[in-house]
Amino acid sequence: MCGIIGYIGKKQAAPVLLDGLKRLEYRGYDSAGISVIGENGSRKIFTLKATGKVAILEEKISKQNIIGNIGIAHTRWATHGKPCDKNCHPHLDCSGNISVVHNGIIENYRQLKNQLIKNGHHFSSETDSEIVAHLIEEFCKKMDFREAVLQSLKLLKGTYGLAILHKDHPAQMIVARLGSPLLLGVGKEEFIVASDACAIVQYTDKVVYLEDGEVALITSEGFEVMNIKNKQIEKKVSTLDWDMEQAQKNGLPHFMLKETFEQPESVKNAMRGRISKADGMARLGGLRDVEKKLKNINRIIIVSCGTSYYAGLVGEYMLEEYAGIPVEVEYASEFRYRKPILNRKTAVIAISQSGETADTLAAILEAKNKGALTLGIINTVGSTIARETEAGVYNHAGPEMGVASTKAFTSQLTILTLLTVFLGRQREMSLVTGQRILKELEKIPAQIETILKQGKEIKKIALKYKNYADFLYMGRKYNFPIAMEGALKIKEIAYVHCAGYPSGEMKHGPIALIDKNFPSLFVVPKDSVYEKNISGMQEIKARGGKIIAIATVGDKEIKKQANDVIFIPKTLEMLTPLLSVIPLQLLAYYVGVSKGYDVDKPRNLAKSVTVE
Ligand code: G6P
Repeated sequence: MCGIIGYIGKKQAAPVLLDGLKRLEYRGYDSAGISVIGENGSRKIFTLKATGKVAILEEKISKQNIIGNIGIAHTRWATHGKPCDKNCHPHLDCSGNISVVHNGIIENYRQLKNQLIKNGHHFSSETDSEIVAHLIEEFCKKMDFREAVLQSLKLLKGTYGLAILHKDHPAQMIVARLGSPLLLGVGKEEFIVASDACAIVQYTDKVVYLEDGEVALITSEGFEVMNIKNKQIEKKVSTLDWDMEQAQKNGLPHFMLKETFEQPESVKNAMRGRISKADGMARLGGLRDVEKKLKNINRIIIVSCGTSYYAGLVGEYMLEEYAGIPVEVEYASEFRYRKPILNRKTAVIAISQSGETADTLAAILEAKNKGALTLGIINTVGSTIARETEAGVYNHAGPEMGVASTKAFTSQLTILTLLTVFLGRQREMSLVTGQRILKELEKIPAQIETILKQGKEIKKIALKYKNYADFLYMGRKYNFPIAMEGALKIKEIAYVHCAGYPSGEMKHGPIALIDKNFPSLFVVPKDSVYEKNISGMQEIKARGGKIIAIATVGDKEIKKQANDVIFIPKTLEMLTPLLSVIPLQLLAYYVGVSKGYDVDKPRNLAKSVTVE
């Protein structure tokens, strides 16, 4: 994800900024850039950019003599426009006097850009971010820099973390926050601005957290904070007591917990700018070039591994029910060695967080060879699978560090929902159905939040069951894959033997295992198979088996059947997996932690499996 670093003080800015960029690398990025206001009588903004690693930028900087004590820098994770030097931040206005780095998405950038072009502005990039520099330039014609920034911010819709320089104000930096984190490190006669505490901790432990809607004007002597109406705001200086790794974890003990709690945001990021309610349609820019081909496909094969495979299974239910296209989901490791029957009307979709999984890549190359249309649902921008597929949709979930996938999974489900609407609306899906799905999808982030708030109760249940050696997780229809994913999580993280099963199959084998020492978990929301699941639960109960249920809030019947219940909010049946998986992630996490295991790096597992 994009990262921001800014410096103003007595030191040379470039080395501090480079160091900050390196510390932000762990977030994942595809390009990096820097702007420094030069001294030596040459009052100009030096800007250097590089596609790829920060080391490439460092190499470029080492060949220049950049002298200056104020600068901003950025690592970019592409959203609008491909990763390349011209789309890389910082972005400049027409005159080259104003330099801007931006995290977030400006949703109304097209309108603003069109207006600015009419006013004579020339744009150098395809990004939404560049408009900020030009807007400020436009306002600067009539007012001073600070006022111009405030007026510009009033026009922006979307989210931003911004750091801005003006050549004619070489002792000032303006930063602003709306929905994208930004904090100000307060050092001795120096200030460091960053989107992430990990770029600040080595300079100072004194920080000011900017809140949404706040703007700070910083000089080497001090800073003032205001809102966009220029009303002054008193800010408290807090003390950071994190080390580097903790900083990357946002103060939480594990990446897995941090990423689990990031899901309201990552799900939002997956749908941001992609929902068009008026026509009940999903806007998927990455599929624009293959829209016609997609209209003609009559079959989909999803290939993936691990957690991504279970996302694919949910996708199968969604796509068949709502888009009316036959779907098969295959383990990539199987697909690559079979003789799949493919033709030009088959789309093969790879789902992969890393975009580097060897089996998934091999499956895609095989499908490509056989003439199928290949697509990717990938989190890592510019990864091998992203490059090898003909088109695709990025997750924008941000880097996932915990080996067990959490936020990438819910993000994949979000994209699959959007894809279902997209392909469905290309076919028979009605406007009203498209609108209803999108409306309910938009509620999911807040609904995930309400489940995360039950963390303490979920922990209690985890501790109650932590000593059982075996589990059976069951669900049906949309929640059969969730039972499988939940079982995978507790295996990976807590080393508990757990079988995920479709609840209807229980009677064909697993029920033989059930006794008082073999608990079951049922994912049993109020959906079209609710009664069937309840019957299954009764059979378990009759054999003395203990039951944990994941059920819909307001379900009174469930307490009679289950020993422990975790409630999730009500949503459309197809969207329940986005909610029901959250308690299962937390259960696995708390059981693993209670046993003292390293949940971020479970034994024998790797985050990205790039070998067969
Ligand atoms: C590994 C990881 C899993 C992941 C799987 C597929 O096994 O530990 O968390 O689900 O690979 O990875 P991908 O990057 O292709 O989604």
